[in-house]
Amino acid sequence: MRVHTAVVPAAGMGTRFLPATKAVPKELLPILDQPALQLIIDEAVGAGVDHIVIVTSHTKPAIEAYFAPAPDVIAKLRSSGREAMADRLQSIGRDVQVSFAYQDEARGLGHAVGCAREAVGDEPFAVLLPDEIMGSSALLDQLARLCESTGGSVVGLKRVPHDQVGSYGVIDPVGEADERGVIAIKDMVEKPSPADAPSNLIIIGRYVLTPDVFDEIAKVAPGAGGEIQLTDALRAQATRSPFHGVVSDVTRYDTGNPFGWLTAVIEIALADPSMGAPLTDWLGQLMRWNSVG
Ligand code: UTP
Repeated sequence: MRVHTAVVPAAGMGTRFLPATKAVPKELLPILDQPALQLIIDEAVGAGVDHIVIVTSHTKPAIEAYFAPAPDVIAKLRSSGREAMADRLQSIGRDVQVSFAYQDEARGLGHAVGCAREAVGDEPFAVLLPDEIMGSSALLDQLARLCESTGGSVVGLKRVPHDQVGSYGVIDPVGEADERGVIAIKDMVEKPSPADAPSNLIIIGRYVLTPDVFDEIAKVAPGAGGEIQLTDALRAQATRSPFHGVVSDVTRYDTGNPFGWLTAVIEIALADPSMGAPLTDWLGQLMRWNSVG
């Protein structure tokens, strides 16, 4: 069955980005002129998704406000002839069905995904972490097709230097990846020490999961800080059902911390048709001033 729902967990506290995230949700921080969340929705729609479930918190009302109608500003834009921007604003939340689920206490990623159970129903669904921005919809599309053909959950993977595995979920593979990057997974471990890591393949923030994962999430015991880890629920699936990953070299930006966000914004601006050239000039000048100074 084609994957048509995507869950976007957005109820976290964004502590690595404080104090900015005290008032502005991390998911709405701008990437040039649009919130990160919009890029995530565009990626999902590009992979065939037509229903987005945002897991949010009542302490983050700005997320829902982003999708609310804005008749005054649209009328103002139209009266001054700015039709393209008026159309763009009007399409937010209309070109795809957006619904909300609530997680009022940040009890971990597994718990956040579990909060979307009712909205998702009994079918495979995608999960996109909104603080990881991808250059295209290609990986999500590949994951959705692989879930359809294998009938099991699938995750996006990236190969990293061995000493960097300790901040991520790391998979224990069966054999090697095939020519499409597809690899079977028998187990996984969250944030291992490099010496104990079963591979150097980390799980990145794109998943397509079969709905039995909700029963597994409900069984997961809270770990450190009371958090319910998604990896624990995925491990349970991997031990009894087909479970695969796709090793990808898709462009990926980690915008969950200030440095990652800044480098993402610069790279994306350098590739932007209207900003690339002036930004390159400005950066060149800055470098020259710095080397003179
Ligand atoms: P992160 O761990 O990157 O986000 O979770 P965070 O907890 O908000 O950030 P820090 O670590 O404190 O800086 C990845 C995504 O999962 C969501 C977050 O909103 C983020 O988009 N999340 C995380 C939830 O929705 N609920 C949670 O309990 C935890």
